[in-house]
Amino acid sequence: MKDTAKAKPDREIAREAKTADAPEAALRPQRLEDFVGQEAVRANLRVFVEAAKARGEALDHVLFHGPPGLGKTTLAQIVARELGVGFRATSGPVIQRAGDLAALLTNLQPRDVLFIDEIHRLNPAVEEILYPAMEDFQLDLIIGEGPAARSVRIDLEKFTLIGATTRSGLITTPLRERFGIPLRLNFYTSAEIERIVRRGAGLLGVDFSADGAVEIASRSRGTPRVAGRLLRRVRDFAAVEKLKRIDAAAADAALVRLGVDKMGLDAMDRRYLAVVADNYGGGPVGVETLAAALSEERDTIEEVIEPFMIQQGLVQRTPRGRMLADGGWRHLGRPVPPRDPAQMELLAQREAVDG
Ligand SMILES: Nc1ncnc2c1ncn2[C@@H]1O[C@H](COP(=O)(O)OP(=O)(O)OP(=O)(O)O)[C@@H](O)[C@H]1O
Ligand SMILES: [Mg+2]
Repeated sequence: MKDTAKAKPDREIAREAKTADAPEAALRPQRLEDFVGQEAVRANLRVFVEAAKARGEALDHVLFHGPPGLGKTTLAQIVARELGVGFRATSGPVIQRAGDLAALLTNLQPRDVLFIDEIHRLNPAVEEILYPAMEDFQLDLIIGEGPAARSVRIDLEKFTLIGATTRSGLITTPLRERFGIPLRLNFYTSAEIERIVRRGAGLLGVDFSADGAVEIASRSRGTPRVAGRLLRRVRDFAAVEKLKRIDAAAADAALVRLGVDKMGLDAMDRRYLAVVADNYGGGPVGVETLAAALSEERDTIEEVIEPFMIQQGLVQRTPRGRMLADGGWRHLGRPVPPRDPAQMELLAQREAVDG
């Protein structure tokens, strides 16, 4: 057990804290019909779930990808509930050895859902075992070592693997190709986030005026998790100030104290923009350099900080690094500076956002 005492990187702790966030669970929709937004994903899932149920078969394997906090874990749980089957959850980095995965797989009941979060972080040796399990519902295990080693084949129940990842670009091709139903989640529209805020306010028993809900929604970065978090914090400020009803002015006052600006950016986001502008003349600057300058993990920058700013046209990924787009300069309240031809060329080669 001495391994558990080993220092964990901050990222691990943050990830654990995220999954252990009980208040978040309270806001989690339980059925497909309570899940707001992502219309295309929802409509497709409904069809595939109904068809699998009608045939009495396991649903084909599903891969959810998209930025953090958009509902991947929530949807995986909903799918299992709609199928009326068991739900087992684990995560890529937790499955250390092939035997860990074998134990999970051999314990599944027919048609159960096995959810693997952060599936891009599976160890390659474990991933190899997953291929025949997904394709043929068989496990090939090597028992023993050296000349005495022998391979055994175990038949598994038919199951549904649901994978989730914020970084679909990091998933190996053989793994990706074994998912019959790949689904991408996108940032929510403001109208959708507004519905999510209203629903959350109802569940938390807080009274918002219409403009109060809009104020929170418009600063939630198109992300239900952020909406839930802002909702709880604004509620705290309102409770201390003994407000019965939260209007736009009260919500704004609380959000300003939280350092969340009109667009929903926080102090770290603004620092990112300022560093690219001031230290690197608007870029290009490599993500590793940026990570060092911001004392932030590269993964956090790529998975958490950048996707929304890229989607909003503040930042651009180019083959030679990150650059501020026009919106980024404007958000900093500065004029867009003249760019040299090399910068213009890079801006024209915008790279696809991973996810
Ligand atoms: N469509 C939605 N409607 C209402 N609430 C939602 C919706 N999607 C997500 N949420 C809420 O947002 C929170 C975050 O969702 P979830 O944990 O499913 O995100 P995730 O995509 O798995 O994030 P990560 O990549 O960080 O694991 C949950 O508490 C859930 O209540
Ligand atoms: Mg999740």
